[in-house]
Amino acid sequence: MKASLQTIATLPLLPSLWIVCRLISKDLERIQDSISYDEGTATASTVGTQLLLFIALGTLGHVGTNKLIPSIKYYMLKRGITGKDLGKKGTSKENNDIPEALGIVPGAIFLICLMFCLVGFATNHPSKLLDLNSALLSICFMLFLGFTDDVLEWPWRYKLFLPSVASLPLLCCYEGSRSVVVPIPLRFLLMIDGELTTFGKLLCYFVVVDTNADGSIINLGVFYLVYMGLLAVFCTNAINIYAGINGLEVGQSYIIGCAVLFHNLVEIQCDSLSRENHVFSAMIMFSFLGVTLALLRHNWFPASVFVGDTYCYFSGMTFAVVGILGHFSKTLLLFFIPQLLNFLYSIPQLFKLVPCPKHRLPKYNAKTGRMEPSTTTTTTPEGTKERVNMTLINACLQIFGPLSEEVLCVVLLTFQIICCILGLYFRYNVAQLIFD
Ligand code: UD1
Ligand code: MG
Repeated sequence: MKASLQTIATLPLLPSLWIVCRLISKDLERIQDSISYDEGTATASTVGTQLLLFIALGTLGHVGTNKLIPSIKYYMLKRGITGKDLGKKGTSKENNDIPEALGIVPGAIFLICLMFCLVGFATNHPSKLLDLNSALLSICFMLFLGFTDDVLEWPWRYKLFLPSVASLPLLCCYEGSRSVVVPIPLRFLLMIDGELTTFGKLLCYFVVVDTNADGSIINLGVFYLVYMGLLAVFCTNAINIYAGINGLEVGQSYIIGCAVLFHNLVEIQCDSLSRENHVFSAMIMFSFLGVTLALLRHNWFPASVFVGDTYCYFSGMTFAVVGILGHFSKTLLLFFIPQLLNFLYSIPQLFKLVPCPKHRLPKYNAKTGRMEPSTTTTTTPEGTKERVNMTLINACLQIFGPLSEEVLCVVLLTFQIICCILGLYFRYNVAQLIFD
């Protein structure tokens, strides 16, 4: 079963691998044609080979993670860093201790892979050295904080605060643009007939509206850093609260990672202006996908390990890092539609307008062998009443009826794939109508 899972799981990677093959064949053609070897063509013509090296590194990361998880699992059990599988209540597995926080293994191996990238990639692209170092520091910090969360169980207010602290290295070293393009339908709010509107003038007290560009560009200045900090907080927590059934945390991260990689490779292939940023992001994504795929194998139903907040924070921060340093944070958010919906739906519980139990994951019905929506008790003037916990997982069970844990995960991951495809469609077909 796990072997066939591995085969199916590689399917979302195929479009990206196809693009890599095309880039490599272009490299070979150029070598054969012995094109004159000046600086510019050298970078363009060897990108396929570079990507091949990143794939090799990702594959090594995959093998390393796969081999190391069973050993580290033993140490986690010995140290009592474990959790009960709440989706197995009422079965013989109910009281089994499942090793928790195994996200530390892919996280650590990913960092080792990135260090090799630091040697190979950044020495050829010195301008990227600072980016890569700050990315390493932020992801490493988040991994550490995630692990402390798994061991010490931080209260929710700290969970929100931790990613903003971990994103500081990234924000301090950020040297890119702080401007955003205003969507065409909203530009009339800022400028009409070459004149700033009242709203535009008001906005100028806080940010710089580019009047030469007819209000199409706003320099957000320090607010851009705030936006990036919030992006890190969102990405990490959004994955963490869309969790609770075997394979979901890792599965969603894997699919988002495949979509990010595909976007990077399309941009590299069409020689976009920010090609170097996309090579940088693809480098991070290959290592990330390699280790994530290995973890998925162990976390898939029936899970033999839990990934913990360690993995949720690590993957969320990795996405925030590539989105920020690759300058495609808006596209990244398009891949986070399920997480965004889950977050928006969860707001009443997250802000305690409706009681929020520690676990909102669906409850297992041992008689039917299926998951059912879990509930929370609310007190109203008319008395107490049970209401379904406000998560996308429970909403899915309300729509499709009770499902087994594995099928539920497959349905949610299919929704993730559909959202990523729609996100890519929007990015390449609709976005230019809105942003020109
Ligand atoms: C978040 C969610 C919570 C959800 C939990 C599951 C919010 C506000 N919080 O809390 O609703 O229940 O994640 O990860 O939405 N577990 C399983 N099966 C799994 C994965 C986890 O039973 O496939 C259980 C295990 O007991 C494990 C525990 O969840 O020990 C981990 O929970 P933790 O990550 O600490 O919960 P939070 O992130 O605080
Ligand atoms: Mg968690």
